[in-house]
Amino acid sequence: MAESVFSYKGSELFVEDVSLDQLAEELGTPLYVYSTKAILDNLASYQKAFADRPHLIAYSVKAASNLAILSLVQKQGGGADIVSGGELFRALKAGIDPQKIVFSGVGKTKAEMAEALKAGILSFNVESAPELAALSQVAQSLGLKAPIAFRVNPDVDPQTHPYVATGFRDSKFGVPVEEALKLYKVAQEDPNIEIVGLDCHIGSQLTSLGPFKATAERLLVLLGKIKALGLELKILDLGGGLGIDYYDQKDPDKIPPLTKDYARAFSAIYQAYPGLTIVLEPGRSVVGPAGVLLVTTLYDKITPFKRFFITDGAMNDLIRPSLYGSYHNIKPVKDQGRPAALVNVVGPVCESGDFLAQDRALPIVQPGERLAVFGAGAYGFSMASNYNSRARSAEVLVNGATFRIIRTRETREDLIRGETL
Ligand code: LLP
Repeated sequence: MAESVFSYKGSELFVEDVSLDQLAEELGTPLYVYSTKAILDNLASYQKAFADRPHLIAYSVKAASNLAILSLVQKQGGGADIVSGGELFRALKAGIDPQKIVFSGVGKTKAEMAEALKAGILSFNVESAPELAALSQVAQSLGLKAPIAFRVNPDVDPQTHPYVATGFRDSKFGVPVEEALKLYKVAQEDPNIEIVGLDCHIGSQLTSLGPFKATAERLLVLLGKIKALGLELKILDLGGGLGIDYYDQKDPDKIPPLTKDYARAFSAIYQAYPGLTIVLEPGRSVVGPAGVLLVTTLYDKITPFKRFFITDGAMNDLIRPSLYGSYHNIKPVKDQGRPAALVNVVGPVCESGDFLAQDRALPIVQPGERLAVFGAGAYGFSMASNYNSRARSAEVLVNGATFRIIRTRETREDLIRGETL
């Protein structure tokens, strides 16, 4: 991915040309801060890697769904990978061309199918026979033809966290490669269905090329069989999944592949099928490194057994450490040159699982001082909740020396909206 936009100028941490401490001072914490430059650079890195073949970067909306972020993607020529009617609504609001939208997910409702059909999306990534039948019915009732790709499950070990691995054969996602041909034949006979492609997504936060290469081999074989049915596909959707460096490049084994090497993993396919448009659905690798979560230290709690930095940021703001045991690099927003201590960084939520870091060596911070949690741009705010009746944080987009609030901090009234006594 692109060069980091986060750097210390003197003792102060900046994003682009904006001081994170000043942002926190002005807007309060917890606060999500994203860099325009990083998002655009990360998108451009994909565009460059796939420049010599027809391609579409369908940004995976679930990673960070703020309209301002979607609008950046749209302006850069990107599309959207959506998994719900809600995400369709957002993508269209952001001005994304429906012909650049693909609809993934195992449980699309008929209402969602109808919405997407009427919008005229590029493709439904169909994941089962009953889903195909439902889509066919909806298309018929609307007098439309549904464009589809089957999401196949190549049974490849993506070597990632089990909760975000999808490519195993016993996963709820995709159809087994062996079944796919049967489904293509069924769809071929269906007057309400137009077959446009083949799709696959094997998992998220992949840090080596091996699983992608294994997938490429299996897809190549399947593409041959699909061609033998007399079908000419327009698109091959390779899904998302390229990992990011949560460890700040300290561990060489954990540095994920570059987009150009990732693109090369599929070169045999491009050679055999030069006319195919390659669709990519990256989420994490576009926004993950572009965002930080700023939190303020409330207390430095020292017991005979543990030391805790208790912050105003918690698992409801960033659930990844609690849910997946994920590592997020943490740095002080102002480097005071203090010695490090071994601490747990925790929030105020009433759960022992509420932590941002465990047994981490961090420079000692005093109450009121702030910390930046890195790699929080993806699956950060988008997975935030109101647990413990905590208002969700604001989101800010920095561009050079300027910034814009792209989502205001929730209020007490927001917390009870729709409720009655
Ligand atoms: N396409 C499909 C069909 C997906 O299911 C996903 C992610 C993506 C694309 C985007 O993958 P990415 O490029 O971001 O790896 N909440 C978890 C990640 C869940 C990923 C779900 N699917 C986390 O925080 O690690």
